[in-house]
Amino acid sequence: MDVLTAIKTRRSIGRPSQKPVAREVIETLLDAAAQAPSHHNTFPWRFHVLTGDARVALGERLAAALRRSLAEEGQDPESKQGQALLKAEAGKTMRAPVLIAVSSHPSDARDVVEREEHFACAAAVQNMLLAAHSLGLAMMWRTGDGSEAPEVKEWLGLAGRDQIIALVYVGWPEPGASLYPLTRRPWSELTEWRGFD
Ligand SMILES: Cc1cc2nc3c(=O)[nH]c(=O)nc-3n(C[C@H](O)[C@H](O)[C@H](O)COP(=O)(O)O)c2cc1C
Repeated sequence: MDVLTAIKTRRSIGRPSQKPVAREVIETLLDAAAQAPSHHNTFPWRFHVLTGDARVALGERLAAALRRSLAEEGQDPESKQGQALLKAEAGKTMRAPVLIAVSSHPSDARDVVEREEHFACAAAVQNMLLAAHSLGLAMMWRTGDGSEAPEVKEWLGLAGRDQIIALVYVGWPEPGASLYPLTRRPWSELTEWRGFD
C-alpha cells in the first residue's frame, strides 16, 4: 500500500477480534514508529507492549485511578453504580489482543524543548497506525483520563516528565467490520495561502 493510500484509507477500529497478533508483526509496527523524526535525534519514544495478563494488570491500574477520582469527586466507589464503572474501566484493556502504550521520555540534553519530544512521539504513533493499516490490522489510538493517572504511569515505570502519548489498541479486524461514517473538515477551509497567485 502506498503511503497516500494508507493515509486516506486508515480509520480507527476500536474492537478488533481477539485473534493473537504475532510478535514479528508488532516488531514491524515498532520499527515503523521508530522511524519518526525527532529534533536533535533524541528518540524520545518508549514502547510498552502488553498482551494476555499484562492487559488485565493495566486494567486494574485504570480502575484504581478511577476509584481514586470517584472518591475525590465525592462519589462512592463501593456503590452499585461505582462498582459498575470500575468493572467497565478495568475491562477496557481487553478490547484488543495487544495494547502498545507509547510514552514520551524527554531528553535532558541542552537545547531540547520538552513539547517537541512529545510531538515526535505523536509522529511515531501515526507511523505505527499507518503501518498497522498497511498490514491489514485494526488499530485505535486511545488516551482517556487513565493516560494521565499516576497509578498507570507508575505501573509503566514512567517518572519525571515522562508522558503517555497513546494507548494503541491493535488486533486483526473482525470480518466485515464496519467503520462509523466520518467526514473530515476540508483542509481548504483551514488553510491560508500567502505569496501564491
Ligand atoms: C491524541 C488522540 C487521543 C485519542 N484518544 C481517544 C480516546 O481516548 N478514545 C477514543 O475513542 N478515541 C480516541 N482517539 C481516536 C479519535 O477519536 C479518532 O482517531 C478520530 O475520531 C478519527 O477517526 P479515525 O481514526 O477513524 O479517522 C484519539 C485520537 C488521538 C489523535
